[in-house]
Amino acid sequence: MPLTRILLPLLLCVALQGHAEDNPARGKDLYTPCAACHGVAGEGNQSLNAPRLSHLAPVYIVAQLQKFKEGSRGGSGATDSARQMAAMAATLSDEQSMYDTAAYIATLESEQSPVTVKADTEKGASYYRQFCAACHGPAAQGNPALNSPRLAGADDWYMLAQLHAFRSGSRGSEPQDRTGKQMRAMAGVLPDDEAVAAVVAYIRSLEQ
Ligand code: HEC
Ligand code: HEC
Repeated sequence: MPLTRILLPLLLCVALQGHAEDNPARGKDLYTPCAACHGVAGEGNQSLNAPRLSHLAPVYIVAQLQKFKEGSRGGSGATDSARQMAAMAATLSDEQSMYDTAAYIATLESEQSPVTVKADTEKGASYYRQFCAACHGPAAQGNPALNSPRLAGADDWYMLAQLHAFRSGSRGSEPQDRTGKQMRAMAGVLPDDEAVAAVVAYIRSLEQ
C-alpha cells in the first residue's frame, strides 16, 4: 500500500479532532434510546442483532456513527440490521453528541456474550496471524492509528455477520467508505465460510 494512503487518513484524523471536551454525563442521556437494543451496560442483544459496544474505543464508535449518519454504512445496499442502526444514528443531532455518547459508552462494563460459533480455532489462529494481526493487533486489541477496531471482546455472532457482510459487499462498498473498503478486501482473502468461522472462533477464544 502506498505510504500516502496511510498518512493522509492520519492527518485527517488530527484535523477532525477539534471538538469540545467530551461530556459523558450528557452522553448518558443520549444513550437512553440506544440501551433499548444495545443494553444498559452496552452488552448487546443477539435477538435484535445489536452488538456489544462496551469493549470498543470511543474513536471507533464515533467513526461508525458518522458513517451510519452519512450513509456510507447502512445505506441502500446494506443489511436490514445496518439500515436499522443508520436510522438511529440519524437521531444524534451533531458530532459533539456522538463524542459524548461514545465517552459514556467507554464508562460501561459488561459481560461478553457466550460462544455461539464452534470451529477449528487452530486453523483460525493461523489465518488470524497471516491476514488479520497486522491491523487488529496480535491480541486483537485494535489499532486506532490504522482505524482498526478492537475485536477481543466482540460477540462471535456479530463478527461472523460482519465478515459475511464485508464479503458480500453489503458493508464496505460505498465509494466514500475508505476504511470499510480496506476491511472488505481483507475479508475477501479468507478462502471460504469455514475459514471465516474458524477465524471468528479463534478471536472469541482470546482474552477480552
Ligand atoms: C433498534 C435497535 C438499535 C438502537 C435503538 C440502536 N442501535 Fe446501534 N446497532 C443496532 C444494530 C442492529 C447494529 C448492527 C448493525 C450491522 O449489522 O451492521 C448496531 C450497530 C451499532 C454500532 C456499530 C458497532 C460496531 O462494532 O461497528 C454502534 C457504534 C452503535 N450501534 C451505536 C449505537 C448508539 C450510540 C445508539 C443510540 C444513539 C444505537 N446504536 C441505537 C441496533 C440499534
Ligand atoms: C489493512 C488493515 C486490516 C486488516 C489486515 C484486517 N482488518 Fe478488519 N478492519 C479494519 C478496519 C479499518 C476496520 C473498520 C472498518 C470500518 O471502518 O467500517 C475493520 C473492521 C473489522 C471488523 C468489524 C468490527 C466491528 O466492530 O464492526 C471485523 C469483524 C474485522 N475487521 C475482522 C478482521 C479479520 C477476521 C481480519 C483477517 C482476515 C481482518 N479484520 C483484517 C482493518 C483491517
